[in-house]
Amino acid sequence: MSAQDGSPLAAGSLAGLRGRHFVTDQYYSREELLGLLDLAAALKALYRRRVPTPFLQDRTLAMIFEHPSTRTRISFEAGMTELGGHAQYLRPGEIHLGGHETVADTARVISRLVDAIMARTAFHATLAELAADATVPVINGLTDDYDHPVQTMTDAFTILEHFGTVEGLTCAFVGKCADAMGTSVALTMTRLGSSMVMAAPPQEQMTPEVEALARANCARSGASLTLTDDAIAAVVDADVVFTVGWWWMQPEDEKDELRRVLGPYQLNEALWAHTKPGAKFMHCLPAIRGEEMTDAILDAPFSIVLDEAENRKHFQKALLLALIGIDELPADPALQGIGRALLPKGE
Ligand code: CP
Repeated sequence: MSAQDGSPLAAGSLAGLRGRHFVTDQYYSREELLGLLDLAAALKALYRRRVPTPFLQDRTLAMIFEHPSTRTRISFEAGMTELGGHAQYLRPGEIHLGGHETVADTARVISRLVDAIMARTAFHATLAELAADATVPVINGLTDDYDHPVQTMTDAFTILEHFGTVEGLTCAFVGKCADAMGTSVALTMTRLGSSMVMAAPPQEQMTPEVEALARANCARSGASLTLTDDAIAAVVDADVVFTVGWWWMQPEDEKDELRRVLGPYQLNEALWAHTKPGAKFMHCLPAIRGEEMTDAILDAPFSIVLDEAENRKHFQKALLLALIGIDELPADPALQGIGRALLPKGE
């Protein structure tokens, strides 16, 4: 049985995701992650045809933010609206979270009120604590010190659209590999079978713990992981070149040192001249123009950063739908292929 739009969603194939947390994509098998990408493609096709998709009518997502956001906040909120539900934006400092009320108590209370929680936290440990006591799915909307899996699964979806596959490609991450985005890109892509080259000065390279996880992924998927301090060597064979902002909330006096250390890793026309034809540039945004990349790279025809930003909504709709789940087959025949994939086989 396939979805009405022709996507390869088998009956019952997504049913096992219902009720699970998405603290990291590393707790999901390659097959489960590919299933989410198929669902995102099916939902995006329906969105493009303006077919209403009210799978999550009367469902609510609580969105907790310890730090500001443009893409994460807007894409989750718009995604819930398009699925027929509602999202609550809980701005930094607006609720008791680990201050006046423990994280565990917050998790237990919110779980009685909504159907899923998305949180952006400074520390991954806070998100893990939230998930440990929540009885509804908890989704990682970025933990500053570790991981951004909704972004990097979106990146995988965007790569799939441009290259027709994620498996067998080579991706380079150039610059601040120690950032949560460096960690997340390396872990997601190696899990899905894409080889990674991480180019950074030693003090900005990924940690040995993250390297071990990425190498374990490679052992299973057949991908490879290369760590280097040579930006040119990193990009020559790359199908996709990633970078990330050199700073976000760092104090002003730390920026000059980051500029000095990371300057040789700036994505500019001289470095891009070493890439092969067809290579694409990706950046999760926000970008700091003139720092980690020049305008000529960010605004180039080979830059797919706006596709990445748009796809946040389509991938996250798939994630919300799979984790929250549905109780019965939708009446609309256009939605029944997806409905059968979400429900246990035979229901
Ligand atoms: N890429 C990303 O997460 O952007 P925001 O910080 O705007 O949510």
